[in-house]
Amino acid sequence: MPIARSGVLWRRIFFLLLFAFTATFIWYKQHEFPHGGSRWGLFYGIVGFFLCYLLAFFGIRKRWYRSTFGTVEQWMQSHIYLGILVLVILIYHTGGRFNDKIAVATLILVAIVVSSGVLGAILYVTVPRLLTEVESNLTVDEISEQLNQLAKQMARISSARSSPFQRIYGQLIREGEPGWMAGWRLLFARMRRGPTPMAGDWANLLSLVQKDEQEELRQMLVVSRQRKELLIRLIYQQRYKNVLEFWLYIHIPFTILLLLFAIIHVAAVFYYGRIAW
Ligand code: HEM
Repeated sequence: MPIARSGVLWRRIFFLLLFAFTATFIWYKQHEFPHGGSRWGLFYGIVGFFLCYLLAFFGIRKRWYRSTFGTVEQWMQSHIYLGILVLVILIYHTGGRFNDKIAVATLILVAIVVSSGVLGAILYVTVPRLLTEVESNLTVDEISEQLNQLAKQMARISSARSSPFQRIYGQLIREGEPGWMAGWRLLFARMRRGPTPMAGDWANLLSLVQKDEQEELRQMLVVSRQRKELLIRLIYQQRYKNVLEFWLYIHIPFTILLLLFAIIHVAAVFYYGRIAW
């Protein structure tokens, strides 16, 4: 299974690198005063800086261009593990000193970006389990398109029919609307797929129109039932997407801010001559 293998691989790489960086830090701490501007401090700073840019670059590229470089799982595993590693490396970079405001702000931004990423990963593995009933492979756009088609089909069937027929059509279209907070309600409730609609309801509706229109009405009711089921699916898909992606509203803007702050921090240490090479 490629998923399991990439998970194990990146976990191994992570622990190996964590061990290596921690061992060098312990050694360095015993031999010189640890701070960002020392040889080792600078080494950690530069590695952290490039990893931040690399992770941001790959993260954005992966999302925007739907690149086929590596599977989603591999990409996520490497992204998460390297992200956590960056935070540790940058803490080693500081040497435990947190006075410079810009530098500390940059580190806080890294912490926010990494923790929102971890939250995203947790959602990624737990939300699909919560929503196991989202079995549709259709995208939101595809479902919307199908809904439009079904509504058009209903309009076609009901056009030039009697006024009771038109009234039923109007009612069915309105009933199809999801209603207030339907998405959230659906998210926390299990999908109920009862016998929709009841045979009794159909018989009642059919009795409202003339005999010669009953066959068309039956057709419209069938289309309407398909439409309602699809609407429920649409709400599910949309909610699923929202839950899976809300953390990105923290992750991406803070990443941009972090990349800017990192450059300002580097410019500042050069400007104020803080590098003790
Ligand atoms: C995203 C990357 C980075 C973060 C989050 C970061 C963060 C920090 C923090 C929190 C400190 C401690 C501030 C203090 O002493 O009060 C520090 C110090 C320092 N950093 Fe960075 N740093 C990063 C990258 C770099 C890079 C790439 C360089 C060099 C090219 C660098 C050079 C320094 C220097 C010279 C100091 C010591 C400043 C001093 O002694 O006043 N940092 N950094």
